[in-house]
Amino acid sequence: MHLFSAMFLLVMLAATLCEALYPSPEEGWQIYSSAQDADGKCICTVVAPAQNMCNRDPRSRQLRQLMEKVQNITQSMEVLDLRTYRDLQYVRNTESLMKTVDGKLKTASDNPRSLNPKSFQELKDKVTQLLPLLPVLEQYKTDARQISRLREEVRNLSQVLTAIQEEMGAYDYEELRQRVLLLETRLHSCMQKLGCGRLTGVSNPITIRASGSRFGSWMTDTMIPSSDNRVWSMDGYYKGRRVLEYRTLNDFTKGQNFVQHLLPHPWAGTGHVVYNGSLYYNKYQSNIIVKFHFRSRSVLVQRSLSGAGYNNTFPYSWGGSSDIDLMADETGLWAVYTTIPNAGNIVISRLEPQSLEVLQTWDTGFPKRSAGESFMICGTLYVTNSHLAGAKIYFAYYTNTSTYEYTDIPFHNQYSHISMMDYNPRERVLYTWNNGHQVLYNVTLFQVINTAGD
Ligand SMILES: *[C@@H]1O[C@H](CO)[C@@H](O)[C@H](O)[C@H]1NC(C)=O
Ligand SMILES: *[C@@H]1O[C@H](CO)[C@@H](O)[C@H](O)[C@H]1NC(C)=O
Ligand SMILES: *[C@@H]1O[C@H](CO)[C@@H](O)[C@H](O)[C@H]1NC(C)=O
Ligand SMILES: *[C@@H]1O[C@H](CO)[C@@H](O)[C@H](O)[C@H]1NC(C)=O
Ligand SMILES: *[C@@H]1O[C@H](CO)[C@@H](O)[C@H](O)[C@H]1NC(C)=O
Ligand SMILES: *[C@@H]1O[C@H](CO)[C@@H](O)[C@H](O)[C@H]1NC(C)=O
Repeated sequence: MHLFSAMFLLVMLAATLCEALYPSPEEGWQIYSSAQDADGKCICTVVAPAQNMCNRDPRSRQLRQLMEKVQNITQSMEVLDLRTYRDLQYVRNTESLMKTVDGKLKTASDNPRSLNPKSFQELKDKVTQLLPLLPVLEQYKTDARQISRLREEVRNLSQVLTAIQEEMGAYDYEELRQRVLLLETRLHSCMQKLGCGRLTGVSNPITIRASGSRFGSWMTDTMIPSSDNRVWSMDGYYKGRRVLEYRTLNDFTKGQNFVQHLLPHPWAGTGHVVYNGSLYYNKYQSNIIVKFHFRSRSVLVQRSLSGAGYNNTFPYSWGGSSDIDLMADETGLWAVYTTIPNAGNIVISRLEPQSLEVLQTWDTGFPKRSAGESFMICGTLYVTNSHLAGAKIYFAYYTNTSTYEYTDIPFHNQYSHISMMDYNPRERVLYTWNNGHQVLYNVTLFQVINTAGD
């Protein structure tokens, strides 16, 4: 609902401010109708003034920026809303689990004869384990309150704009701008707080499309924030040069509205990533990483990843020249690979996105050949133990503490052959290529949100 009110707001902003500058109906924007349909969506009919009308005024540039800001906020709110919704879902599940355990415990203590002392103690221990969750759950609730406050603010802004429309020109433009700025700042800090956590679940696989060969790779831009909806698809795992670019996910699903990019150098593997409008990929039969900029259709930089094995020497368990896996998370750009000195164990390097220089490297100690795939969330590398049926997320390496842990996070591998798995921090989903199917998974991150300083 807030999304549509913000969209509505955008239209209103364009209409009212421009009209304030050009009150003549011939020159200004005009709203013919604004109503809500059955779904609560706002329907506006707006007639824009001739293109150059607004451009004449020096304030028009400011106005355009303002509009863009509102648009950005709308997008951020959309993402936030989805995240919060999912996190709350998780909290609710945990809460109900707690209630179940608690209920069992009550039954047991009411009727102690129904339990032997050992299982009673087990149950008690379980509850004790769950107790630290309580304050965390409280934090989630705080977080949800924060979102609704933001929503209220957007709604308030919308009301102010409505008032301006009624009382044309009476409102101070500068004050309006300040309000939008404030809103944006709050939203950013809110997004930051929602940022990171530990992976606890991979669920809801959705098959977006079944197309292309058995192995391949597909993705959207991983940069936060980004308003880019394009989807890229790269079929096959070696010697390919053709990247298909779809306008939206919907176009990708339908196989329509795409353009083709022909890369100057062929690729190896499926570990490509799109980050901030550029494709980063491993050049065929080399350990060179290429940064290809889509808009200018040019290679901005290429650099050898020193010591990295290539040419199917150290692939993941499925093979396919998957020696070098590039990825991005909330914290930046990464390369996952191995070297001969590391004896084939997975190495993680943080890369500088402009120069592709290695900033820091971690040795995880986990054999790459025993890994199905890997992906990075919040500076933690998660590794699956197979590409086949029964695969699970088996190992986690925390770069913040240089420590690891064995994990047991199941996921449904419904087409039984995963040749690509990458996290998108912006959408908080996993992109996978599974036996010619393009599948998305939701992830649940367990996060403690720091609300101090609010
Ligand atoms: C809106 O977001 C885009 C992409 O993140 C950014 O480049 C642009 O500067 C933002 N615009 C404003 C006015 O904040
Ligand atoms: C929205 O407006 C109402 C009434 O003017 C005010 O009480 C409330 O504090 C405002 N909310 C925000 C988040 O600014
Ligand atoms: C390290 O990162 C993980 C999430 O990836 C987080 O849960 C953990 O608290 C962090 N540890 C420290 C010491 O910051
Ligand atoms: C993203 O790309 C733009 C140019 O397209 C550049 O100005 C900006 O610094 C880049 N941001 C990051 C975080 O790499
Ligand atoms: C890559 O591997 C292929 C097949 O094993 C081999 O023929 C080729 O010479 C290798 N190329 C390089 C550059 O190592
Ligand atoms: C993820 O979760 C959201 C909310 O529960 C749901 O709408 C969506 O369909 C799920 N799946 C994906 C792949 O986003």
